[in-house]
Amino acid sequence: MASVSNPILVTGEPYTPGLTREAVCETYGVLVDEIAKLGSAENPLGPSPKALIAIAAAMGLTEQYPSWTAEPLRKAIAARYDVAPDEVVCGTGETEVISFIIRAYAGVGDKILMYRPCFPIYHLFAENEGRVPVYVDMGREMDFRVDAYVEALKSEPIRIAFLTNPHSPSGKLMAEADIRRICEAAGDALVVMDEAYIHFTETEGSLHLVKEFPNLIVLRTFSKAFGLAGLRAGFGIAAPEIIRPLWNIKPTWNMGHMQMAGAAAALTDHEHIRRTVDLIVEMRGYIAQRMSGLTAFRMVPGSRSNFFLIEVMDDRLDSTIVFEKLLERGVIIKDGSVSFRGLDKRFLRSDVGSKVNMDRLADALAAIEQSL
Ligand SMILES: Cc1ncc(COP(=O)(O)O)c(C=O)c1O
Repeated sequence: MASVSNPILVTGEPYTPGLTREAVCETYGVLVDEIAKLGSAENPLGPSPKALIAIAAAMGLTEQYPSWTAEPLRKAIAARYDVAPDEVVCGTGETEVISFIIRAYAGVGDKILMYRPCFPIYHLFAENEGRVPVYVDMGREMDFRVDAYVEALKSEPIRIAFLTNPHSPSGKLMAEADIRRICEAAGDALVVMDEAYIHFTETEGSLHLVKEFPNLIVLRTFSKAFGLAGLRAGFGIAAPEIIRPLWNIKPTWNMGHMQMAGAAAALTDHEHIRRTVDLIVEMRGYIAQRMSGLTAFRMVPGSRSNFFLIEVMDDRLDSTIVFEKLLERGVIIKDGSVSFRGLDKRFLRSDVGSKVNMDRLADALAAIEQSL
């Protein structure tokens, strides 16, 4: 039998996705329509309608190969964000761009820095590719320990430094001054700023810093505010010298016509984005107010994203017990101890979603509290 290049490919920890409605319906007998799916940070308003029209129109191109560098989409992204097309790389989701970056900018055995907890793909891909994750723990209230991060950059030979803004799983927003400090301290290391959820912060993010810092790449996705998680499209923006090796390492025709057309149309669907962000901001306030009435659970304050952390405050419960009790009641969230390295049994992550789903979550938590 063929042997793998690295044994961790056989034994390594797989990604743990959020559960589907169908799985919960099958196991717990809750009707699919009555399930609150709050574990995958998807758009509660669904896809951009403009994207759907463009995807349907692009079906007519299916017999033709697409541009191998996703040129039409790169041009659309460049026009939208005021950069040049050769400063853009596209992937089937941001996740694919993350894999190119790890392979292109760190060799086997090289160190990759990240906060803990973080988006698990950073360390899962790093380990699967034989690279070595180095962690800086977030603070007790999930604050960014920037001094410790800068210290790690200076004291270890780091090749890639991942940042997520707003942070996942806490939703905390990093200040621009701290991002600048980290880019300055990084030197020759590549700073990867993952802005998958930036729309929900109602800030512009870090794209403007790419011109200033040649060691910075900013990543964005079409899966969240644009509502296209099932389409698979994401991108990175950096200096052309950073982008070119990523084109060369990626599978040649990684973006199909429908992905490119849907994503490009979504970029200009400002109304859909506005409605999405308005709903998330309103519901973030609503769920905070509903959670404040509970004593067995606490919302970790300060999320600027479309999810937040729930801390279990009652010793008779832990995150896995709460996760199961919520599933029985048709509410899917994430058990922090399973989904995020570095979170213990006291944390779960829930999405911010529609009012009906925020009520389902708050009602279910209240019922669990009352049953103690
Ligand atoms: C922080 C972060 N980055 C990136 C992604 C993935 O984005 P994509 O769907 O574009 O691969 C996610 C998905 O949940 C995420 O949480």
